[in-house]
Order: sequence, then C-alpha cells, then structure tokens
Amino acid sequence: MTERLQIQNLYKIFSSTLRPALEMLAKGGNKNEVFEKLGAVVGLNNVSLSVPEGAMYMVMGLSGSGKSTLARCINRLNEPSGGKILLDGRDIVPLGEEELREVRRTRISMVFQHFALLPNKRVIENVEFGLKLRGIAPGERRRRAEEVLSVVGLGRWGYHFPHELSGGMRQRVGLARALATDADILIMDEAFSALDPLIRTEMQDELLRLQRTLNKTILFITHDFQEALKLGTRIAIMSDGELVREGTPQSIVLEPGSDYVAAFTREVDRARLFDARSVMRPGEPILQSERGALIGEAGGAGFVLDRDGKVLGTLDAEACGQARAGGEIAAPSGDYVSVPPGAKLLDVARSYRDGRPIAVVDDDGKFMGSLGADDILARISSTTPKPASVGEHHA
Ligand SMILES: Nc1ncnc2c1ncn2[C@@H]1O[C@H](COP(=O)(O)OP(=O)(O)O)[C@@H](O)[C@H]1O
Ligand SMILES: [Mg+2]
Repeated sequence: MTERLQIQNLYKIFSSTLRPALEMLAKGGNKNEVFEKLGAVVGLNNVSLSVPEGAMYMVMGLSGSGKSTLARCINRLNEPSGGKILLDGRDIVPLGEEELREVRRTRISMVFQHFALLPNKRVIENVEFGLKLRGIAPGERRRRAEEVLSVVGLGRWGYHFPHELSGGMRQRVGLARALATDADILIMDEAFSALDPLIRTEMQDELLRLQRTLNKTILFITHDFQEALKLGTRIAIMSDGELVREGTPQSIVLEPGSDYVAAFTREVDRARLFDARSVMRPGEPILQSERGALIGEAGGAGFVLDRDGKVLGTLDAEACGQARAGGEIAAPSGDYVSVPPGAKLLDVARSYRDGRPIAVVDDDGKFMGSLGADDILARISSTTPKPASVGEHHA
C-alpha cells in the first residue's frame, strides 16, 4: 500500500519563542512542564503517523489533545514548529505561498464541525464555491456541483437556501463542497460531532457507503471513540499533543497499552467489534491421507479437508481417535457451521447451534481455522486488565 500522507516528528508550539520549548520536549519534558516553566502551549509533541491511500484514518483524543492542531498543520492554517508533512513522499512544509495554495486547492479538502455556508447563496452556489476559486468555468462547475449534491443525497435541494435545510443536511452540503474539488485527501475535523445522534449515525453510514466507491484518503478527527471504532481502518489516539497509541480498532481494544487508552475501551461492545479471524485457531493437524487432511479442533472434533483445503465435513471426537490409531480418515459425517473471517462475533454467536464445530472459511471456501463457544465468550467478556496494584485484595 502506498503512503499518501506521512507525518514525521511534527511539533507545534504556540509561542513566539520556539527553541526553549522544543529543547525541553527533546529532553523528555511534557506539555504541562513546558507550560509551567515557559508559558508556551504545546499543540503537537513529536507526532509521527502514516496514512495509506484509501484509508479511513481516525485521530481520536480528548478535547485539547491536539487533533485540530494536527489537521491545521497539514492544511497549513497552522505553521508547524518542526517536522515533516509528506504528501505522496514530498515534504510540503517548506513550500512557498503559491505552491501551498495549489496544494490546498487541488489535493486536500477540509470539512469542519461548523463550517460556514454563505447564507444568501443557494446550496448549489455554496457547493461550487471552491471550484470558482479554482477558476473553473460556470457550466462545468454547475454540472460538477449537481453531481456531488446527488452523491450526498441532496440532488433536489440545490436551489434552496441554507436556512431551509436541517443541520444534518447542511453537513451534507459541507461534504459535497469538499468532494466537489476532487481532492484525493479529505480532512474531516469533528465533522459529525454537532449532529443529533440519529442523524449522526445516518451520516456515518453514508460516509462508509460513499467511501466504498470514492476511495478517498480520509483523515477523520473525532473525540468519540465509538465513532472512531465504527469508521476507522486505523486509529491514532492523542493525549496532550502526543500520539500515544496507533493501530486497528480491534488491536487497540485488545491491547490498549495504557490506562488512558483503556478508559476509552471499557464501554466497547466487543461482540460487534471483534471478528471470527481475531479468535480463530489454526487447529491441530491429525492426519494426512489420500482423502485430504484431518484437522482437530478445540472441542475434540475434527474437520476433514480436501486437497484444496476445503471443508468436506467433520468427524466427532471418537472418529478422530480412530483416525489417529488406524491411520485412516473415515468419511466425514458431522454437521458444522461455517463463517467468513470478517464475521463479527455477535453474528457468529447467532449462527452457533448446539455444539456444532465452527469453521472459519475464506472467500474461496478454504479452511482458515476454527473457533468454539468458549473462544467467543472469552473475547467478548474480556475486560481490559488493570495494573497489578489495582483491585488486589490482601487477606
Ligand atoms: N491559536 C492557538 N494559540 C494558543 N494555543 C492554541 C491555539 N490553538 C490551539 N491551542 C492549544 O493547543 C492545544 C491543542 O488544541 P486543539 O488542537 O484545538 O485540540 P483538539 O482539537 O484535540 O480539541 C490546546 O491546549 C489548545 O489550547
Ligand atoms: Mg478540535
């Protein structure tokens, strides 16, 4: 996968004197210490991350952790105090005004929480705005604006005024405006945070749907961990200007790595987050024969696979024992349930029926592993381990 956007050792200090603050950070000082000693506010402290092409990359953290500062540095509404911002491998930090304007116009689009629609202009004119700035001819920009409005489901609203639209619809206009410029990178800063819960869910689903066809590279900023889990292919978690954890949603919930991150993961619905792949086991090869292979699973039964690795059926524990002793695989007789690797545990649990073995099977029908009811239960009931000193009781 190519890296569309890379941030390397990015710093942002809000102060007229940078050097003492940067030196304190380099020596291991943190945001609070720098503020107490120097009165300088640390926005970003040595942030590095890498956004692959086509990613829905989430930046999550509490208010004041530096998320917007990061977005504003990428878009250069904030001047970085140090570090690199690579766009397709080229550092855009040293660029001059003219080149920067070009990058902002053609490569990166922003959607904010409250972006200003021009109140006395019709919706379609608001969507065209960025194209007008780019000097695109009126007919062409009208056509393009109509196209993106229908993409976001507002095809019939182009000739209305902003005040006639609901908050959710206005947010769609913002999205349409960002899409109209055809920039390949979208930065969405708390774009859905001000919406009512129902509308918000609807917009999240809409964005996921759009992304399947648009395939933009999206940097999505949110203070809501649930939103990050739902939308993200990867999540970066920020605290006091630092990036403290980065990974896939499943890996972060599984291994938060710190109390700060663990606190976000406590309320997570694990049955809807974790998939079959995350708990399956490869199984124990019992026997190889003309017929294919016999793979034992945790419950004692075994899967009989053909030469291509496809599941033919199962043998119960007794038949597996006989196969071990006699060196021959009997004709598979047992029933089993098969699930794709990406099936959420909630759905796997629903398909589970009275002790039948569960096989995880890929798109080509090949056996990948198996899992049992215990595996599902262990994963969805697991809470984040606390540090050893907490919660211990001494008799
Ligand atoms: N223009 C500014 N001048 C001084 N401090 C700022 C400025 N912008 C942001 N900050 C500070 O930088 C830190 C990060 O802010 P911000 O990036 O807006 O956080 P978030 O978006 O995660 O809520 C905060 O401590 C904030 O007070
Ligand atoms: Mg912010």
